[in-house]
Amino acid sequence: MADNRRISTGIPGLDRVTKGGFLSRHTYVLVGAPGTGKTILSLQWLLEGRKMGDKGVFISMVEEPAGLEQNVSGFGWNLDQIEVVDFSVAATSVVTDYDEYHVFPPSEVEYTPVWERICDIIEEKRPQRLVIDSITQLRQFSTDAYQFRRHLFSLLRFLVRLNCTTLLSCEPSAITQDSAISSAVDGIIYLEKEISPERLIDLRSIHIQKFRGSDFLAGTHPMRITSKGIEVFPHVIEPCKDVKLTGEMVMSNIPKLDELLGGGLESGTVTIFTGPSGTGKSTLAVHFLAQAARAGKQAALYAFEETKESVLRRSENFGMQLDPLLENGSLRIRYINPLQLYPDELLAMIRDETAGGGRDVVALDSLRGYHMAMDQFGSTVAHIQNLMHYLKSQRATILLVNETENITGDLRMTEAGISFLADNILLLRYVERRGKLARVIGCMKKRHGLSQSELREVTLSQTGFKIGEKLENLVGILSGVPTIREKNPGTKQRR
Ligand SMILES: Nc1ncnc2c1ncn2[C@@H]1O[C@H](COP(=O)(O)OP(=O)(O)OP(=O)(O)O)[C@@H](O)[C@H]1O
Ligand SMILES: [Mg+2]
Repeated sequence: MADNRRISTGIPGLDRVTKGGFLSRHTYVLVGAPGTGKTILSLQWLLEGRKMGDKGVFISMVEEPAGLEQNVSGFGWNLDQIEVVDFSVAATSVVTDYDEYHVFPPSEVEYTPVWERICDIIEEKRPQRLVIDSITQLRQFSTDAYQFRRHLFSLLRFLVRLNCTTLLSCEPSAITQDSAISSAVDGIIYLEKEISPERLIDLRSIHIQKFRGSDFLAGTHPMRITSKGIEVFPHVIEPCKDVKLTGEMVMSNIPKLDELLGGGLESGTVTIFTGPSGTGKSTLAVHFLAQAARAGKQAALYAFEETKESVLRRSENFGMQLDPLLENGSLRIRYINPLQLYPDELLAMIRDETAGGGRDVVALDSLRGYHMAMDQFGSTVAHIQNLMHYLKSQRATILLVNETENITGDLRMTEAGISFLADNILLLRYVERRGKLARVIGCMKKRHGLSQSELREVTLSQTGFKIGEKLENLVGILSGVPTIREKNPGTKQRR
């Protein structure tokens, strides 16, 4: 009778990728170049088995048991109760006189001692979890490709009879040279390691090519080898859910700004704060977070360009005391160190922190910082879209800070090309007035409800934001250098 029991992989994230773990009695091949983590992954799986009371056997074709034990001691692991069988070159040279054959036909016995011995060991130990590391080395114990295929098929049939679930490791060249391996096994899992396009960091990933009897998460899933072993960050494509807006508002509590926004930012929408460096976008985003936190909401800032300390210091300069909010947990500030997290890892962290309605208002500062931090991992627009879909499904109100590259000159709404994600766009710009710089704020897009279309002067001081009166004489806001035209017709127009 078919046994479709799932065997937990013991690798954080991999059960999600495999939608429940390996299938009992199936044989999987782990394909990867040297150093990609095949041995570590298979040992971690055996150790998980030990926890569950499954017997584990590790047949080592390369590393001697002592070396293996030493290599994994860095993870704080010991291999007690895992049967490590030494088939390294040193060990196999003494088995040539082995003469009991019962799995392979007599015509092949001349070349089969090692294959036979492996079967005997498996029969004797009766493991529930077996690893052969690696079949690339096993290949040399068959005379040719044809015999190797026969040996492998016999071994796999034998394993099914013994109710054993197996991981075979293999180098990519072996699987490309011999398609028999791919067709014989139940699953193929690739481990990869490449250097990032900027050549700064290693990018490790895992993807499944074949997984008989089960669905799995398609695509490439980033992974890490840390001092705790392997961790996989499943790349989950978040469904784009249409969440009903409640009509509740996230307010700045600066009357003229809320007025400009038609009452505030609707809960559950995405707002982009866009403008050049220094116009106050980040401070304004933090202001909204602090107001939400004070109103009893849960707020979070993920800062890619500034440390928590720097955010706190700057906020204090503008009259915002964030410490009490941090202390009571209504506000959380996380500095995301560039190159420290994979996009899917960041999403996993945000998921953990926002699950079950954990955070109501979430700000990312800035899109450019996100882009710089995550650029190594493929399309940042796709990743940020995925993140937005997740946060929206959690009914979070999202604030995105977007720094435009040019202080003056043509305005590109969002450098990262994601303005289509925004429900609201708040624009901050510098303008020139009588040789001095002033800041203006305007609402360029408001998907729900009415907003005021004018621009207003905004000043930032120790007491926070002050929004001035409507500026009627402003020209050139969307191109060139915005200038306030003086009312007096006698005055020369400034550029
Ligand atoms: N304690 C540790 N912390 C972080 N990374 C580690 C640690 N120990 C090993 N590694 C990483 O794991 C990699 C080795 O993994 P592993 O031995 O499983 O690779 P493999 O695919 O089996 O390679 P091979 O084909 O050579 O046997 C090393 O390249 C190293 O980067
Ligand atoms: Mg190895």
